[in-house]
Amino acid sequence: MSKSINIRTQSKSYEVLIDEGLIDSYDYKWLVQGKQILIVRDKNVPNKILESLKKSLGKSEAYEVFHIDLETNEKNKSFEGIMPIYTLLNEKKFNRDSLIIGLGGGITTDMAGFVASTYLRGVNLIQIPTTLLSQVDAAIGGKTGINFSGSKNNVGAFYQPELVLMDTLVLKSLPKKDFSAGLAEIIKHSLIADNNLFLRLENIFIEGKNLSEEELIQIIYESSLIKAFIVSNDEKEKGDRALLNFGHTFGHAFEGSQSLDGFSHGEAVGLGMICASNLSLLLGNISLEEYRRITALIKSVGLPFEIPENFDIDEFMQAMSRDKKILSKKLRFITLRGIGKAEITENHDKELILKSINL
Ligand SMILES: NC(=O)c1ccc[n+]([C@@H]2O[C@H](COP(=O)([O-])OP(=O)(O)OC[C@H]3O[C@@H](n4cnc5c(N)ncnc54)[C@H](O)[C@@H]3O)[C@@H](O)[C@H]2O)c1
Repeated sequence: MSKSINIRTQSKSYEVLIDEGLIDSYDYKWLVQGKQILIVRDKNVPNKILESLKKSLGKSEAYEVFHIDLETNEKNKSFEGIMPIYTLLNEKKFNRDSLIIGLGGGITTDMAGFVASTYLRGVNLIQIPTTLLSQVDAAIGGKTGINFSGSKNNVGAFYQPELVLMDTLVLKSLPKKDFSAGLAEIIKHSLIADNNLFLRLENIFIEGKNLSEEELIQIIYESSLIKAFIVSNDEKEKGDRALLNFGHTFGHAFEGSQSLDGFSHGEAVGLGMICASNLSLLLGNISLEEYRRITALIKSVGLPFEIPENFDIDEFMQAMSRDKKILSKKLRFITLRGIGKAEITENHDKELILKSINL
């Protein structure tokens, strides 16, 4: 059942492993022997997972293992939030040969990754993502970062890890809402690049089937393959990597317009994908039937699909204009050309954007 993917970017090649029980069974020796290690843990990751990781690192002859717990909310994904990590690294005299392990969801892997990229100009990093979203998306591809002054991920670095371990056992304690958020990114990957994955997801979720462990590993694998392929060809987002932002221009504005307090990232992306699909429909690039299939799949996995009542359109447009995906003052959107194919479009007038969110 175990799966592996090789990511080959210009700056580094590394392996992504997917299996049940990997945290326990992986032989870390080649990476950790004789090293000082800091585990940056999301405080909601159960203690038994942390203890099991520490035990495995001990068996692999790590020199010293520390851990620090993070509050995981978008407000704490900030300079203030990462400061205690730098302080601990400094106090314990971590050197450039030391290792940081991110153990948590996307907030944690983004923060741990950013610290790893900047402390002593870069220390080694292992990502052990513990949410479905961070497994299929945040922990792959080397984007790290924090939020600054009300904008999402606008301070950061591209920094690839040495290894990514996706242990499906850790998903057992994940709240259903967060599992759905991860499915949003899997649906996104299917929409931009893989009609067969979309059909597989329809077959499971529209039909209301139980997701077996084997199928879970398979959809994580297929989804991660898409991200791995795209980032391997375009590490620094000069071209096709932007396609991964499908639903995100709208999504980030939904997150931003609620002062980073409202939807989770995955939920906002789910709603953003409905708007981006509506935009694709209005442009005549997908059929009404395709639009209906997309919205049905998004609804079927338990993601929100309606614009919230307290929604403020002016705040939304402002949040959108702060988004990083603005090039030369033009807002860029990723739109679909059918299910499984996406393209970059820009320069749509405000009326069309407003029509796209009128669901
Ligand atoms: N770097 C990238 O390429 C990239 C891509 C996508 C998203 N992101 C970022 O990722 C973040 C969203 O990630 P997320 O959805 O994983 O959110 P998250 O990190 O907030 O985790 C979601 C929730 O699950 C909890 N949690 C994590 N693991 C758990 C476990 N095993 N058991 C129980 N609870 C657990 C967390 O404490 C949190 O409450 C956003 O900040 C987003 O910007 C980054």
